Amino acid sequence: MKKVIDKINDLVKDKFEKCGYDRKYGFVTVSNRPDLCQFQCNGALAAAKEYKKSPRDIANDVFGELKDIEIFQDISIAGPGFININITDEFLTNYINDMYGDKKLGTSENEDPMTIMIDYGGANVAKPLHVGHLRAAIIGESIKRISRYLGHKVIGDVHLGDWGLQIGMVISEVKRRNPDLPYFDENFNGEYPEKAPFTIDELEEIYPAASKLAKSNEDAMKEAREATSKLQKGHRGYLALWKHILNVSVADLKKNYGDLNVEFDLWKGESDCRHYLDEMITYLKDNNYTEESEGALVIDVAKEDDKQPIPPFMVLKSDGATLYSTTDLATIWERVNDYDPNEIIYVVDKRQGLHFEQVFRCAKKTKIVNEDLKFDFIGFGTMNGKDGKPFKTREGGVMRLRDLIDIIKDNVKDKLRNNDSFTAEEMDEIARKVGLSALKFGDLSNQVTKDYVFDMDKFSSFEGKTGPYILYTVVRIKSILRKVDVDKTSNIINPHSDIERDLMLSLSKFNEVVESAFIDKAPNKMCEYIYEVANQFNKFYHNNKMITEENMEKKMSWINLSNLTKDVLETGLDLLGIEAPDRM
Ligand code: ARG
Repeated sequence: MKKVIDKINDLVKDKFEKCGYDRKYGFVTVSNRPDLCQFQCNGALAAAKEYKKSPRDIANDVFGELKDIEIFQDISIAGPGFININITDEFLTNYINDMYGDKKLGTSENEDPMTIMIDYGGANVAKPLHVGHLRAAIIGESIKRISRYLGHKVIGDVHLGDWGLQIGMVISEVKRRNPDLPYFDENFNGEYPEKAPFTIDELEEIYPAASKLAKSNEDAMKEAREATSKLQKGHRGYLALWKHILNVSVADLKKNYGDLNVEFDLWKGESDCRHYLDEMITYLKDNNYTEESEGALVIDVAKEDDKQPIPPFMVLKSDGATLYSTTDLATIWERVNDYDPNEIIYVVDKRQGLHFEQVFRCAKKTKIVNEDLKFDFIGFGTMNGKDGKPFKTREGGVMRLRDLIDIIKDNVKDKLRNNDSFTAEEMDEIARKVGLSALKFGDLSNQVTKDYVFDMDKFSSFEGKTGPYILYTVVRIKSILRKVDVDKTSNIINPHSDIERDLMLSLSKFNEVVESAFIDKAPNKMCEYIYEVANQFNKFYHNNKMITEENMEKKMSWINLSNLTKDVLETGLDLLGIEAPDRM
């Protein structure tokens, strides 16, 4: 369905043109003074310069034409030449009914869908998933859902950190504890055991112990580096052990991400590009992109107009080892080869901005990707504690994601406790959904790049701009709909009050908001929007006695309007990765 704002724009632009002005001056926006009008066009002011006429005269010219447009209720000229526009209730109501009958709520699927890859998650194998990875997962999941809703082909990749030093640390620690395992026997030619020599709980203890030791003990660090390098060069036993680490870790990660309702299409990692490394490095050398610098292999990616110096891209270290930059470049090589995407989006901590700038420049310069491929770095800010420092446990350690979810769930449970019509199981499921809504909405309602303070009490409040408030509104509607059967064949009729009209106007903007959240990669726009809709609905709810209304036409219209509101809220929530319970 064409967006309301586009329809109005086209009409007004036509009239500007008809009066001899450039179409562009007919640009209409949603009014920033909703008390005065619904939409406004300020083009006459801008046109005044070009046509050497007073803005008011221009506005008057166009006004004569606009008056006759059927879908405009009243048009007026305000101040120096602003054109204020209201649409008719008929137009609005028709639009709302069309939207209600459309399974995508008025959103058009893209006629020319793109293939978009989203690199989010970024968990590191063998290390516990911590809150630092929370934002990547939550934001990336929402961007994925929004893009997909608009009909694009979207591939989400977790891109695990599975090829770095932490693996070498685990391998050398396992060796210290169990030197007799066949993985460490250089003469062993047989099949390695199928069962991993550790459980996830053991693995979660092994890594921190190894990392602590390596920090204080040079030999241990050297061993870890050597093990990493041997693994990367293809040592048979280390590869077998690495596969165990990967399997045990990934099983746990899948559960963790599953608990968050975050689903990846690809469970690839840094290591997957290893099959392309030789080919890529040969290509880079053969085409003279690389140069040597203090023994390392680098590619100059600086540009003349750089405001700050951009260091060269590192392909290989002086000892021949690959780096984070190398695996990211080779992963692009792999992705272009396997999926030929139009766009690759990275949802990663904003502190990695320079790294990605180098990677993107390098990929373009070396023609690993063509000029049209769009790279998008969505760098997010830090989640801080109330002290303004990165969020920690009470003991000062890194908070595990699993623990965080439990904490927020318990917090919500306390608030829900006074309702004993639920079984313990139902209660748990409700608390999970409400808790996740608090966590996700609390995160997503901030602008992605901004740091924010994780304030559990605020996020889990049932009032204000929070996930639970939106869920509460959905549940309220569901409860009405349990009491009155919806007859979807009866229409929504013209609004009976300003409050009802405002609700309808807000609902009609759904398609516009999805598109703009997609274009700007800004889930916070969807948060803002569903909060507005929930607020409008609650006002509408308090203003009308829906269930006892005796005029059946009116009652059914209200019920259908509530049902549409529920659909809009639930779809909006789903695009944020949030589920609403039926009751709470
Ligand atoms: N594993 C990385 C980290 O924990 C994030 C990976 C982000 N994605 C990428 N393609 N580099 O910092």
